[in-house]
Amino acid sequence: MSEGGNTPYSNSIQRTSASIQCHQRICKFPLINVRGVPLMSYIANNFDSIWDFKPDPSDLLIATYPKAGTTWAQEIVDLLLHNGDAEICRRAPVTERVPFLEIFATPETPSGLELLSKMDPPRVIKTHLPFQLVPPGFWENKCKTIYVARNARDNLVSYYHFDRMNMAHPEPGPWEGYIHKFMRGELSWGSWYEHVKGYWKEREERNILYLFYEDMKENPRREVERIMRYLELSLADDVIGRIVALTSFESMKDNPMANYTFIPERVFVHSISPFMRKGEVGDWTNHFTPEQLRMFEEDYEKQMDEFDIPFRTNI
Ligand code: A3P
Repeated sequence: MSEGGNTPYSNSIQRTSASIQCHQRICKFPLINVRGVPLMSYIANNFDSIWDFKPDPSDLLIATYPKAGTTWAQEIVDLLLHNGDAEICRRAPVTERVPFLEIFATPETPSGLELLSKMDPPRVIKTHLPFQLVPPGFWENKCKTIYVARNARDNLVSYYHFDRMNMAHPEPGPWEGYIHKFMRGELSWGSWYEHVKGYWKEREERNILYLFYEDMKENPRREVERIMRYLELSLADDVIGRIVALTSFESMKDNPMANYTFIPERVFVHSISPFMRKGEVGDWTNHFTPEQLRMFEEDYEKQMDEFDIPFRTNI
């Protein structure tokens, strides 16, 4: 990758001194800042080609901060686009049906760009990139974009458990320290606060459908219908009902094409914490001490200052 030249992060890349650490052929990738956003080295080192990706106007982007309900949204969209046909939606693992834009080839996963190059539009594409790092072609081509946001406390808890079970991610370390890393935006893909604010600011101008995990839990049918309308589809009532049932936590947990058991066990160690872990709103109450919550909320008020994004920590 070039470090000079006309790229969005020219002169702003900081190489960490940390090296890639590998154990039993699984590599933990150090984080490298791309325009102030820590990304795993295999993403940061290939960012030029990600930035240059040219989507088709018919492509749909699903953007999230990690652990906000990405897979859930992917599954709903795939089913909506296939009129609720469960069999078709089990044609391949969700990672192949909905390529992950910025994922680069590792011994375990093909690159998102490679998968996309073999698919004809319209494609559904996943990203965790914050708004400012999304390839500009998406906005130039006015691609539809669905953003799912999850309240910070539950998002943090879910990310913590995911980092425990994902051997390719940086070590989470103890919970107390992890809270601080989250607040400082030091986890992969950066600050939750900047992520949710970045898409929120742009939602009207870019016609982004901004959804909340908590709303999806509270009334999944209402949110599935909201997505359907955004996609300009009109499905029969019973089909919508089927999609709601097929995308319940329990159904997806049992679906080998959605529950990430297709990733080799030495990379995703579900015995440490399953990918489909709890799927609840409010699990944060089982993790934060009163003191941790006080400190977290004090910081939250500062970071979310002037942004009235209607997050709910309970439903
Ligand atoms: P928990 O760790 O809290 O259980 P992502 O897909 O963005 O990685 O998000 C994963 C989180 O979404 C996990 O949260 C997972 O259990 C939850 N999830 C996935 N599918 C879900 C569904 N159908 N209903 C509710 N939660 C779901």
